Amino acid sequence: MAEAQKSWEKRLDKTTDSLAVDFVESLSVDKRLYKYDIVGSIAHAEMLCEQKLLTKEEFKQIKEALIDISRQIEEGKFKFDKTYEDIHMAIEAALIKRIGDAGKKLHTGRSRNDQVATDMRLWMRDEIEIINTKITLLQKALVKLAEKYASGIMPGYTHLQRAQPVSIAAYLLSFVEQLNRDYLRLKNRRASANVSPLGSGAIAGSSLPLDRKKSCGLLGFSDITYNTIDSVSDRDFCAEFIFDCCLIAAHLSKLAEDWIIFSTTEFGFIRVDDAFCTSSSMMPQKRNPDMLELIRGRSGAVYGSLMAILTILKAQPSGYNRDLQEDKVHTFGAADTIEACIDMTCAIVGNTAFNKDKISADIEKGFLDATSLAEYLVTKGVPFRTAHGIVGSLVAECEKQGKTLAEIDIEEFKKHSKAIDEDVYQHLGTENVAAAYKSDAAAGSSQSLEQISYWKKQFSER
Ligand code: ARG
Repeated sequence: MAEAQKSWEKRLDKTTDSLAVDFVESLSVDKRLYKYDIVGSIAHAEMLCEQKLLTKEEFKQIKEALIDISRQIEEGKFKFDKTYEDIHMAIEAALIKRIGDAGKKLHTGRSRNDQVATDMRLWMRDEIEIINTKITLLQKALVKLAEKYASGIMPGYTHLQRAQPVSIAAYLLSFVEQLNRDYLRLKNRRASANVSPLGSGAIAGSSLPLDRKKSCGLLGFSDITYNTIDSVSDRDFCAEFIFDCCLIAAHLSKLAEDWIIFSTTEFGFIRVDDAFCTSSSMMPQKRNPDMLELIRGRSGAVYGSLMAILTILKAQPSGYNRDLQEDKVHTFGAADTIEACIDMTCAIVGNTAFNKDKISADIEKGFLDATSLAEYLVTKGVPFRTAHGIVGSLVAECEKQGKTLAEIDIEEFKKHSKAIDEDVYQHLGTENVAAAYKSDAAAGSSQSLEQISYWKKQFSER
């Protein structure tokens, strides 16, 4: 049976059952909040001191002892005792053990309910900075690779069928764009989560003259929350953060899926460096893209966390309920997984080569220039729908004869449409097509080069 004394030992006749101790504890998960808990406590104590609820001497003692506890934890010298349930009580107990009565005053006007809500928001602010730094590194790696292949052309796919030629750079930059939405989404999340619930107490605030705006300002929050009942139970910011992680996972899993396909013998578009492949215990020839498969697979855990947090929040009675303790395992889990997946993707992007020869060897197959031919007819005054039909029958004819569109002679073209002239050949073949894209942000090499300089400028301003 646990020996640690808890603050409510006078209320409950029995010490907590050992099974219950293990069941209720969150220390194993929330000890990573220690820095935020200590910073929050120092701000709370400073506020109490200004409000004359602590003397200057008591505040000094509390602050110094908390900093010392923080140092101990940092150095791995702090004994975490799960009978204290969570990081909040573990630190408070250590504080009281050190400085006695002054330590016992720290929890004035405070509950673990507003304390944990504050800690989580403080943690999230930093976590978002970390993830966004990693997103930027990945974006930079993609831009670097795009620059390397700025002149290369590859097939663009829809329905995984050959569609139109695109520059390799444009393909890579499509992920930079996706990741940028992730970056901005998290930036917005940081701003909306950056409000202070501290001083909301257990549910109703306090009859003591707390100055919530004071502790809010000390902690760098942009404002206080404005309803204490909501403040102690609001975990929308956790659900939103996990959702943001889910979309990152979706984007990374798309890249992973593409590259798994691109690295097959059938495609042979890319070669992921050996350092990021594994082999088989049985088949000696194998080079398996396991890291990419795991990036794809780990999206499952992140999506699971979203479903978990939404379910935890559903139909909870108003006010704090212990269910909310479960926010952490899923919020931290999503963050850890997404950090690892971004790091891994970044490393793979930096160690992958596109096989331009293999890509171009087959690139004239699949009629990637068919749309360009239809657009050529449009420039000759043929309505697009009619042009679409003409090219459709030309493609069907080519398929029968085993030819590409560029291999059709002019007489044959003329049989299908009198609008076709000798200049048609300048509009056929993937190189010509990709060089002719004119619309804003099209997938050609010139537009990709513009995008590359745009992104470089963006990153330099981050
Ligand atoms: N460990 C708890 C959590 O993470 C702290 C709050 C507990 N509050 C309470 N009144 N039981 O949510």
